[in-house]
Amino acid sequence: MGSIVNKYSDKADAVINNGSCYDFVKTIPDQSVKLVVTSPPYNIGKKYEKKSSLKEYYNKQEQIIDECVRILADDGSICWQIGNFVENAEIVPLDILLYSIFQKHDLKLRNRIIWQFGHGLHASKRFSGRYESILWFTKTDNYIFNLDSVRIPQKYPSKRYFKGPRIGELSCNPLGKNPSDIWDIPNVKNNHVEKTIHPCQFPIELVERLVLSLTNENDLVFDPFLGVGSTTAAAVKNRRRGIGCEIMEEYYSIAVERTKRAMEGRLKTRPMNKPIYDPKNPKINLEYELEKATEQLTLFDKTPIYGMTK
Ligand SMILES: C[S@@+](CC[C@H](N)C(=O)[O-])C[C@H]1O[C@@H](n2cnc3c(N)ncnc32)[C@H](O)[C@@H]1O
Repeated sequence: MGSIVNKYSDKADAVINNGSCYDFVKTIPDQSVKLVVTSPPYNIGKKYEKKSSLKEYYNKQEQIIDECVRILADDGSICWQIGNFVENAEIVPLDILLYSIFQKHDLKLRNRIIWQFGHGLHASKRFSGRYESILWFTKTDNYIFNLDSVRIPQKYPSKRYFKGPRIGELSCNPLGKNPSDIWDIPNVKNNHVEKTIHPCQFPIELVERLVLSLTNENDLVFDPFLGVGSTTAAAVKNRRRGIGCEIMEEYYSIAVERTKRAMEGRLKTRPMNKPIYDPKNPKINLEYELEKATEQLTLFDKTPIYGMTK
């Protein structure tokens, strides 16, 4: 079993700090992190944040982004997952607001990934919001990108060329297709297997896709706004080292527990690439469940599902 410590260490498998990222990040050495992935507060008055003016919010975000750029390795990436600031049915897309901070550092935007999901608040004065974005930046042009590790199943895997010099050969990549910049991944609502008491946690499969494609084994992954530890759990589950901080004691202790379970192979997660449930086609889902059941049995012991909802 790996180790989880509270203060920065380059020996530990995970560092989870119960404090503010603005202080903690200063203890991380320059260029030591291969991936920063986070979902910061959106300044919408959740219980873990104080709503402020957009100018103040921008300044605070700038402080932490500046530090994240300092600690980022030359072949590393920053993924800032963010939604909208909403007031009086008017929205401000926060990725547009914050883009200039990353631009100031001359980071290169590789994708603006659209994360779409099926559930959320029903709006009455505008269309209901069903996506958020992930801005993926690299520090240089020489960056880690392991596309093969995150390919998704082809729609027609056995399709072959029917003419030309490659006639009869498979026409699509047998390893699967590029997952594109539109990601259809269920958000963590009450019936999700990963649900805890946190109001807006990441699905682990979303972070896993970034961890697998943008880092190599043993690399360091940092989340300044860790919440209940989805990033550190995704990192250690995939043999990377995870580091993060969380100011709320109740989320911090869940983060430690989930990361520990992920290290031990006991954290129940929604598997990557599991098809979205389609009530019109339940057979596809059933086939997938049967196929995965055997794999799951070897991965997890008989511990009850880690649902921490009160
Ligand atoms: C949008 S949530 C992130 C949830 C996370 N992605 C997860 O999967 O659990 C933002 C988190 O940042 C935490 N937070 C707010 N200000 C912070 C700070 N200065 N330092 C560390 N964490 C902070 C909040 O308590 C909240 O849990």
